[in-house]
Amino acid sequence: MSNKATLEINGEKHEFPLVVGTENEVGIDIKTFRAATNGVVTLDPGFKNTGSCESGITFLNGEQGILRYRGYAIEELADKADFLEVAFLLIFGELPTKDQLEKFHSDIKGQSIVDDDVKKIIDAFPKTAHPMGVLSSLTSALTAFNPSSVNVDSEEDMYNSVVRILGKFPVLVAWTMRKKQGLPLDYGDNSLGYVENVLQMMFKKPNQDYVQNPIIIDALDKLLILHADHEQNCSTSTVRIVGSSHAGLFASLSAGISALWGPLHGGANQAVIEMLEAIKEDGGDTHKYMAKAKDKTDPFRLMGFGHRVYKNFDPRARIIKKSADDVLADLGIEDPILEIAKGLEAEALSDDYFVKRKLYPNVDFYSGIIYRAMGIPIEMFTVMFALGRLPGWIAQWREMRLNKEPIGRPRQIYTGETLRDFKSINNR
Ligand code: SDX
Repeated sequence: MSNKATLEINGEKHEFPLVVGTENEVGIDIKTFRAATNGVVTLDPGFKNTGSCESGITFLNGEQGILRYRGYAIEELADKADFLEVAFLLIFGELPTKDQLEKFHSDIKGQSIVDDDVKKIIDAFPKTAHPMGVLSSLTSALTAFNPSSVNVDSEEDMYNSVVRILGKFPVLVAWTMRKKQGLPLDYGDNSLGYVENVLQMMFKKPNQDYVQNPIIIDALDKLLILHADHEQNCSTSTVRIVGSSHAGLFASLSAGISALWGPLHGGANQAVIEMLEAIKEDGGDTHKYMAKAKDKTDPFRLMGFGHRVYKNFDPRARIIKKSADDVLADLGIEDPILEIAKGLEAEALSDDYFVKRKLYPNVDFYSGIIYRAMGIPIEMFTVMFALGRLPGWIAQWREMRLNKEPIGRPRQIYTGETLRDFKSINNR
């Protein structure tokens, strides 16, 4: 294969080098494009055909439904690793040794106290505030309590920032949930594992011990792993572009949380359950909702279906679907909306509209069913997505800064008014 692309514009030929990745993906390197073509730019709303960076963190193949973190298949990691191991792998590039993992967890525990003044901020929110808005604000506020910016050229400084946010973020997640429930904002127990501690911080009532359930611990650990990274999705691209201005790590993560909140992105896990509940209330009439999803005059979409990259089954959805069956069975829960979800899936997978557009269930289609079985309130579902995605955002932010990538600043094609003279108000 040639190592360059040739483009002809107005009879003039231009050559641009090809970049080939380790999985043989090919990109046209257009770093010199505008200068070489005397001002011509490319145009690609939503960046459907545009690579923003070269990255060594996550590989996915949408056509084949492949997802790997640092070369390890998501199926293996979900089955054999725990969330902290995967967080270490994503951020530092290798699976940790036993000693490295113990030190990582110990250092995270050492950072799991949040300044008590943060409670004054959270107290200012009404109980009706959506947890994603609260979490984004609290994450940004962490900058005020940890003002020193990260020196990315210092491995120690970078490491300390990583364990600082991995220690404090779960506390913010728990406080965000407990605030809405009118429960005291306290801390977990450093004698517990990472996921156990998250569960205890979220669910422990002040007047009773919290009894851990190994089924729930395993299910949450798996869900966090499955959500941990997903290359250049909307929220990760947001974290990278905000960080490219050399804004701090916490500010960049706060922006990523806001991007994830949208119902087309991480907010879909909440929207899926709301949709399934509506279908159940409507007598389980899935055909009506399938028709709405295909009706171009109807803004309704089948939430949890379709994906910008996966044109095959989202490998995470396969794992989560099986986990949903197992968790509900193990907990002895019969959730009618699981059956509605399966019915919708079966219908969509044999419907020409969905088949032609290669619309399959994505990570959000079944995850909410498990969160619900765990007793997590629906408005907290996307917060749980953020908790899982945190190490991926950190890894991508770190890579972007270590690669000294330029500030992100896309171009545009202007289609507005051409030059015109000012008119005084009496002449308008
Ligand atoms: C996540 O990018 C990532 O990696 C994200 C994520 C991650 O881990 O970070 O995987 C997490 O965000 C998963 C996606 C969660 N969102 C949803 O479930 C919301 C419902 N899905 C859609 O809104 C949509 O599928 C998107 C947003 C996910 C993808 O949209 P695209 O790539 O911009 O595709 P599109 O909107 O151009 O759709 C192509 C066609 C259109 O029809 P035509 O114009 O060709 O006739 O498919 C249709 C769309 O109308 N379509 C749907 C549909 N999704 C796409 N029709 C009905 N229901 C849907 N869900």
